[in-house]
Amino acid sequence: MSENILDINDLRTSFFVEGNEIKAVDGVTFQVPKGKTLGIVGESGSGKSISALSILQLIENPGKIVGGSINFKGEELTKAKNSRMRDIRGNEISMIFQEPMTSLNPVYTIGQQLRESYKIHEGLGKKEGTKRAIEMLELVGIPSPEKRINQYPYELSGGMRQRVMIAMALACKPELLIADEPTTALDVTIQAQILELIKELQDEIGMSVVMITHDLGVVAETCDYVAVMYCGKVVEYADVETLFANPKHPYTVGLLNSLPRHDVDQDELVPIKGNVPAPDEMPTGCRFAPRCPHASDICSKLPGLETQEDGNDVRCWIYTEEWDGEKGVKVYDRESTT
Ligand SMILES: Nc1ncnc2c1ncn2[C@@H]1O[C@H](COP(=O)(O)OP(=O)(O)OP(=O)(O)O)[C@@H](O)[C@H]1O
Ligand code: SF4
Ligand SMILES: [Mg+2]
Repeated sequence: MSENILDINDLRTSFFVEGNEIKAVDGVTFQVPKGKTLGIVGESGSGKSISALSILQLIENPGKIVGGSINFKGEELTKAKNSRMRDIRGNEISMIFQEPMTSLNPVYTIGQQLRESYKIHEGLGKKEGTKRAIEMLELVGIPSPEKRINQYPYELSGGMRQRVMIAMALACKPELLIADEPTTALDVTIQAQILELIKELQDEIGMSVVMITHDLGVVAETCDYVAVMYCGKVVEYADVETLFANPKHPYTVGLLNSLPRHDVDQDELVPIKGNVPAPDEMPTGCRFAPRCPHASDICSKLPGLETQEDGNDVRCWIYTEEWDGEKGVKVYDRESTT
């Protein structure tokens, strides 16, 4: 077993709004082995960003971490002091935010911000730092970087800011990079370039990565492990080969069946029926039950996340002794989908 750089256990983060508790992250468990990439996938609102922000202790009122543990290299982050967290955020864990403006300082130029990072982390002076900043901006696909470094964040387009932020996040050579939808706003060529850059840095410094994405194609290309989230819970966790070859949770299967593929006619794509339930209509049993084609009586109770023979951790009654639905049910029909 490889060592885990990050070990999250039963993490719970809620928002308290008008007397109600919205359980955005509701008992999330996953691990990130050192030097590897974990993908987190799931529909909008499933709690991916809130999980990431919880790791960095960046949850603001009315939100609060209400339970569980976040173990980073043996240190419990839910108990870490603010000063220690600031230190971790600048040095050991970097995050690429879904909303680029949040991590750029509006009163400093791009060059000043990048130079500052190189000064702190590598002791580079102004001249060396500027050279490095230009190289890094070039690497993330920014045209005329020698001009851009003198501009302020507001002078750049959204896509450009996203790339500057990626350059910033990578400048400190973090041990763990959390990338929240890092490439969705970018065109395909730049997207590929940036994923490649992350990969290179990973090989060079052994960086570990948490990659949050809607895109299963990105997962297949870049991730070693995958956590599939639904309504604040991890419903399946597996290594990437196992997940694509032998998905077990009906929600994972639904995601894979709705993925456009070159070998399947677009008409044959089957979207998952229905919508994610609103917080006040959340089922108390399996959260996926209202949309699940296999739901049975027992699904009105919440299943646990259990490790299966193939190595997947799955939260579904079908794979338990208690299953009371159709025997030998075929959740993933490999014959018709390969
Ligand atoms: N500031 C807030 N106040 C109240 N509830 C919130 C707040 N932020 C998030 N939530 C709740 O947390 C849930 C999870 O949000 P989160 O941003 O983690 O989703 P996500 O999986 O990142 O979605 P997306 O794919 O759209 O980025 C939301 O559905 C919402 O119910
Ligand atoms: S526990 Fe039941 S409802 Fe939930 S995914 Fe499994 S079969 Fe479907
Ligand atoms: Mg998000």
